Amino acid sequence: MCGIVGYVGQRPAQDLLLAALQKLEYRGYDSAGIALVENKSLYLEKRAGKVSDLMRVLKASRATVGLGHTRWATHGPPTDQNAHPHCDCQKKIAVIHNGIIENYLPFKEELQARGHIFLSQTDSEVIAHLIEERYDGTNLLEAVREALRPLRGAYALAVVATDSPDEVIVARQGSPLVLGLGEHETFAASDIPALLAFTKTMVFLNDGELGVLRRDGVELCDFEGRRITRAPQRIEWDVVTAQKQGYKHFMLKEIHEQPHALANTLQNRYELATGKIVLPELQKLTEKIHKAQMVYCVAMGTAYYAALTAKYLWREFFRVPLAVELASEFRYSKPYLDENTLVIAISQSGETADTLGAVREARARGASVISIVNVVGATLTRESDATLYTHAGPEIGVASTKALLAQLAALDLLGFFIAQSRGWLAPEQTRPALESLVRGPALIEKLLQQEREIVRLAQVFYEKEHFLFLGRDLLYPIALEGALKLKEISYIHAEGYAAGELKHGPIALIDAEMPTVVLVTKESVYEKVFSNIEEVKARRGIVITVTDQINKEIERVSDFIIEIPPSSRWLAPLLFVVPLQLFAYHIADLRGTDIDQPRNLAKSVTVE
Ligand code: G6P
Repeated sequence: MCGIVGYVGQRPAQDLLLAALQKLEYRGYDSAGIALVENKSLYLEKRAGKVSDLMRVLKASRATVGLGHTRWATHGPPTDQNAHPHCDCQKKIAVIHNGIIENYLPFKEELQARGHIFLSQTDSEVIAHLIEERYDGTNLLEAVREALRPLRGAYALAVVATDSPDEVIVARQGSPLVLGLGEHETFAASDIPALLAFTKTMVFLNDGELGVLRRDGVELCDFEGRRITRAPQRIEWDVVTAQKQGYKHFMLKEIHEQPHALANTLQNRYELATGKIVLPELQKLTEKIHKAQMVYCVAMGTAYYAALTAKYLWREFFRVPLAVELASEFRYSKPYLDENTLVIAISQSGETADTLGAVREARARGASVISIVNVVGATLTRESDATLYTHAGPEIGVASTKALLAQLAALDLLGFFIAQSRGWLAPEQTRPALESLVRGPALIEKLLQQEREIVRLAQVFYEKEHFLFLGRDLLYPIALEGALKLKEISYIHAEGYAAGELKHGPIALIDAEMPTVVLVTKESVYEKVFSNIEEVKARRGIVITVTDQINKEIERVSDFIIEIPPSSRWLAPLLFVVPLQLFAYHIADLRGTDIDQPRNLAKSVTVE
C-alpha cells in the first residue's frame, strides 16, 4: 500500500508534499518521510508515526523539488530506518516506493558483497543502490530504467538525485500512479485526491511505463526507452468533496453521502417509462454477453459482499447463476475460463492487487471482463473490456460505506442489462424494480435521521468485546458486512453468520455478554429468522433486531429494535446496511479509535 507523492515546480515543495501526504495517509500511516533537493544537496527526514509526527521535526526549506511517502509496512516493522525515502550510500539519490519487490533478496546480498551498506530491512532500499551503480550523474531516467529491469513485483516509485536537481523520475508496474500538470510545475501521486488542490489536469501512467517530471511538463517512455505520448485528462472531482466538510470523520461524511451516491449511480442509466436499461459503455460487449455460459463475480472486502448480495438477486430475477469468488481465491483455484466466460470485477479503488490478478488471469484465458469501479482511470478500468462506473465520489475513509451502496445499485443495473440483452427480461418487467430502486435515496435519507437512536444504542454496547451478526438470504451478506464494519474500525471481535448456521457452532458462544444483531425482513424467511432469535433468547443472549417488520412477537423477543422502512428485495440490502454502518461508527467513536485510519488496514490493498 503506501502513498507516494513527487513535485517539481516553483513553489516551496515541503508544504505541498505534506498536504498531499495527509490526503494519502489512508493508504498507510505507520511512518512518513520526505526528501527535498536544494542547492545540489538532499534534505531528508523520516519517522515512524503519522505525517503529523514528521511535520514536528521538519526544518523550513525553500526547495522546489522533492518526494514524500507514507508507509504501510510490508518488509520490516514501522521504524525510523524502515521509513521511506531510502538512499544510496552517498546520500545523493532518494527513492520512495509503493509495492513489493519480490526478488529483492539476491540483489541485496550481491550489493552488500560489493560493499553497499543497507540501513533498513525493506525490500525498497535495493532500488536506491541499484540506481547508484547505474547513475553517472547525467541521465537519471536511464539509470532508473536499467535498475528496474531485473526487478520483479509491484511498484510505483519516484526518485530524485542531487546531480539531476530539476527532475523527478517516476515508474509504475502494478501499483497506481497519476501525474498532475500545472503552470510551470508537475506532480506525481498515488491517487487523484492527493493532487486535486493543485491541479485537475492529470495523466495516468500505465504499468511498464516511466516518466520524467520537469517544470515544463512530463515525458513518458516504456521500459524499452520508447517515447509515449498521452493526452492529459481533466478530472471533474472537486476539492470540497474530498474534504470532511464539518463531519468528525470521512467515514461519517461518506455514510451521509449515500443518498447521493445511490442517486448518482442510477442517474441516466434507465428509462423509467419503458423500463429499458441504458448502459452505452457495455454496448461493445453485447455479443459476449449473449454468448456467456458462465458468469463469475470477483472482488475483495466490502465489494465481495456486494457481489454475494447480487448472487441472490441475479439467480432469482435474471436466471443468471453467478459464481461469486474472493478474487484472491479465484486466481489460484483453477477456475473454468474460456471465451464464453464473463467475469465481473468489483472494486472501489480499482487498484486491489488480488482483483487485478484475477482479471489478468481471466483475460489471459479468453474471458471478457466487465469491471465496476469508483475511481476514474484506475488500473482495473484499463484492464477490463468495459467498465461500469459507480458514481459515489471520492471515498477516503478506509472502511468502505457509500461505495457499497453504489456497487449494489450498479450490480442491479448490470443484471437488468444482461437479462434484457439476452431477452430473458422484457423492459416492462424491469419497471417495478426500477421504481423501487429510485425510491432508495429518499428512504436512506429517512434512515439517516435515526442516527440519534443508534448513538444511544452504541452507548449501551460500546464496551462489549464480542458481537454476532445474523442474516439469511439477501441479508446474509449484509450481516457479514455489519460484522466487518464493526471489527475494522472498533477492533471488537465480530462474526457474521448465515442465521441458519447458528445451531452449527456460533450458538455455543452466546451468553449474556455477547450481543447478537439479527437482520429480519418480512420479504424473506421471516419465520425461520424469528426462530433463530428465539434460540438466542433461550440462551440469555441480548438481541438487537434490525427489521422492516415490527410486531408484537418481534418486540417480545428483542432487547432493542432498529426500524427499517418497508421496501423491496431490491432495496432491502441497501437499507439494512446503513444502520449497521452507523452502529459500527458510533461504537468506534465512543471507544476513541482512529476511525478513518484504523490500525493495520489500508484503503487500497495493492499487494497480494
Ligand atoms: C480494503 C479496504 C476495504 C475494501 C477492500 C477492497 O480492505 O479497507 O474497505 O472493501 O480493500 O477494496 P476495493 O478498492 O477493491 O473495493
